[in-house]
Amino acid sequence: MNKTLDVPERKLPAASEVLLEVKDVKKYFPITKGLLNRTVGQVKAVDGVNLSIRQGETFGLVGESGCGKSTFGRVLLRLQSATGGEVLFNGKDIHSLGSREMRKLREEMQIIFQDPFGSLNPRFLVKDIIGEPLRIHRKMSAKETDARVVELMELVGLDASRRNRYPHEFSGGQRQRIGIARAIALNPKFIVADEAVSALDVSVQSQVINLLMKLQKELGLTFLFIAHGLNVVRHISDRVGVMYLGKLVEVAETEELFAAPLHPYTAALLSAIPKPSPRRKQERIMLEGDVPSPANPPSGCRFHTRCPFVQDTCRQTEPLLKEAVPGRQVACHFPLLPKS
Ligand SMILES: Nc1ncnc2c1ncn2[C@@H]1O[C@H](COP(=O)(O)OP(=O)(O)OP(=O)(O)O)[C@@H](O)[C@H]1O
Ligand SMILES: [Mg+2]
Repeated sequence: MNKTLDVPERKLPAASEVLLEVKDVKKYFPITKGLLNRTVGQVKAVDGVNLSIRQGETFGLVGESGCGKSTFGRVLLRLQSATGGEVLFNGKDIHSLGSREMRKLREEMQIIFQDPFGSLNPRFLVKDIIGEPLRIHRKMSAKETDARVVELMELVGLDASRRNRYPHEFSGGQRQRIGIARAIALNPKFIVADEAVSALDVSVQSQVINLLMKLQKELGLTFLFIAHGLNVVRHISDRVGVMYLGKLVEVAETEELFAAPLHPYTAALLSAIPKPSPRRKQERIMLEGDVPSPANPPSGCRFHTRCPFVQDTCRQTEPLLKEAVPGRQVACHFPLLPKS
């Protein structure tokens, strides 16, 4: 167990119903040039992702900066349009819903951001920040809103008597709790936590992770938990997806992924986590070169320019995400199969 994060181990929920099904989702941003804004290329931020997120699970999404994690999260919530593909939430394609249906669905899907200060309006009192969705969506009276704000603040471990204060009067961890209280105000089913603990100190990180795990259990939430590094997602995630240049390269149950990564990129990310014992020799896989541009991804396997095991096929043919070992999906021509 990683010593840096003090959180209890979790039990996998049974592989039950699928809450969210993502089919070949793409999001391209045009690159424009000149006075006429001519489109000269496209940033392929998300480029064909297939994934099912189960009811009640936490799915961890990791990958280097710029690989498309936040864009993917936003497309899942329709905070951004998709260039292609489908996002089925409880069987309904959310990108083809009318505005009325979408407004209803918005209550069920929420997001928590990385920067708890930037995402909270500094001119609003905490009670108004948490209470705003209740007034807008539920048309609650001032009295009803106040009672619910008190309840929510207590649920996330904040002193409700401080609700008449401004966000800057709270610490970073407390501000993240305010963001969480706001996100759960309307009893959502699905929450995207985009780097929700990345800006916090390690000790505060584990408190917030513990809070999210507690809320998940009590409220039956489903999470997409986005982070750069594997060590943060380990303790909270049931399954983990590893993203590279707009694509998923590996999906596995958390402990299996940590025990034996199948994709060389996952192995490299894992080897970058410091081991708790200095006596255990660390074999770090150093990745050569920079992350290529998502506007011009490499041919064949996108990872081939940095892969220590590259072969000719990798430069020519794109590997698809498929089951290499039962229950384990990997997009690699030569996965690091466990020795039997
Ligand atoms: N609105 C936008 N317009 C143009 N390009 C964008 C836009 N949003 C994101 N991108 C580009 O899409 C790619 C993916 O960005 P994204 O923010 O999703 O990555 P990320 O994995 O969340 O990175 P980080 O870990 O730094 O948060 C990047 O190349 C980024 O520059
Ligand atoms: Mg991001």
